[in-house]
Amino acid sequence: MSYSPFSPIKRHSPRVTVIGAGKVGSTLAQRIAEKNLADVVLLDVVEGMPRGLALDLMEARGIELHNRRIIGTTDYADTSASDIVVITAGFPRKPGMTRDDLLLTNAKIVVEAANKAMTYSPDAIYIIVTNPLDVMTYLAWQATGLPGDRIMGMAGVLDSARFETFIAMELGVCCLDVKAMVLGGHGDLMVPLPRYATVNGIPITELLDAATIERLVERTRNGGAEIVELMQTGGAFYTPASSTCVMVESILLNQSRLLPIAAYLRGEYGLNDIFIGVPSRLGCSGIEEVVELKLSDVERDALHASAQEVRKNIARAQEIFAAVSR
Ligand code: NAI
Ligand code: 2OP
Repeated sequence: MSYSPFSPIKRHSPRVTVIGAGKVGSTLAQRIAEKNLADVVLLDVVEGMPRGLALDLMEARGIELHNRRIIGTTDYADTSASDIVVITAGFPRKPGMTRDDLLLTNAKIVVEAANKAMTYSPDAIYIIVTNPLDVMTYLAWQATGLPGDRIMGMAGVLDSARFETFIAMELGVCCLDVKAMVLGGHGDLMVPLPRYATVNGIPITELLDAATIERLVERTRNGGAEIVELMQTGGAFYTPASSTCVMVESILLNQSRLLPIAAYLRGEYGLNDIFIGVPSRLGCSGIEEVVELKLSDVERDALHASAQEVRKNIARAQEIFAAVSR
């Protein structure tokens, strides 16, 4: 038998599947690989495209100083035994498309993707990114039967990052010193919490007047639309990818980070049977704990109003689904 000084070392490398190799999905694949967190399987329905992206990312490895494998594919068999599955497949709303059209199109895509991925990775933790976020997460949970602590949606990390950015820009301070939390659904009724926003421990309510804070809150609520308006073609993807990567990292490295994520609620915050953004500890088993903050009456009412909106959209999605299945 010939001896090779380079015989392969067999060891388990964590594996993250990213379904949807568009702007968010491909940028997320890049972040995960270049942070040296895991091997990545990038899956899309478009033939060739995910393979091209994966090869392009692989060719950068020597320069980016990591040795992670990136596989591009259209075949779910290649995703088998993933530790985490992220679903970014789906579309943003296009001109002429109603909200219901988008709801139905993306619901079909997300439910099918989640079910197929489950066949090959039944033990994985699932992160949904496709919009409308809270509804898609609920439908994927319902379709797969996953326990609530192993499926979640990404939005709060992104919305909080935007709020932090606007606070840092307003005060002219380093964004590393700003911490903020945005709860609720990923929509117009999301709930930024100025009381819990700080600059190195100093509440922003002591640094900014009420009118300025309200302006920053409104800009946060409109954060996605502001970028779509500027870009004209498509929406934000750098910060959405970074935000999802933070969640992936917290799970893979068992960091137990406290992050606002769309989590399944069983009575927390007075809400039941809904996915909505709340602070949660995220570790290797998924959602370790939903943390209940003490909210003022106004904050609690705002969270419930946002939940009401999410529920209305879930009901609408189920209605449309039922109508097309008849
Ligand atoms: P994109 O259009 O660049 O990429 C979507 C990809 O999904 C395309 O490559 C498409 O071929 C693929 N796809 C479509 N059907 C598929 C299927 N059945 N299986 C696998 N892949 C499929 O869109 P982008 O910008 O990457 O956004 C993706 C989704 O993420 C959108 O719904 C967007 O609204 C949402 N989003 C959510 C955010 C959040 O905070 N939750 C933030 C940013 C985007
Ligand atoms: C965003 O907030 C549209 O959800 C997307 O950028």
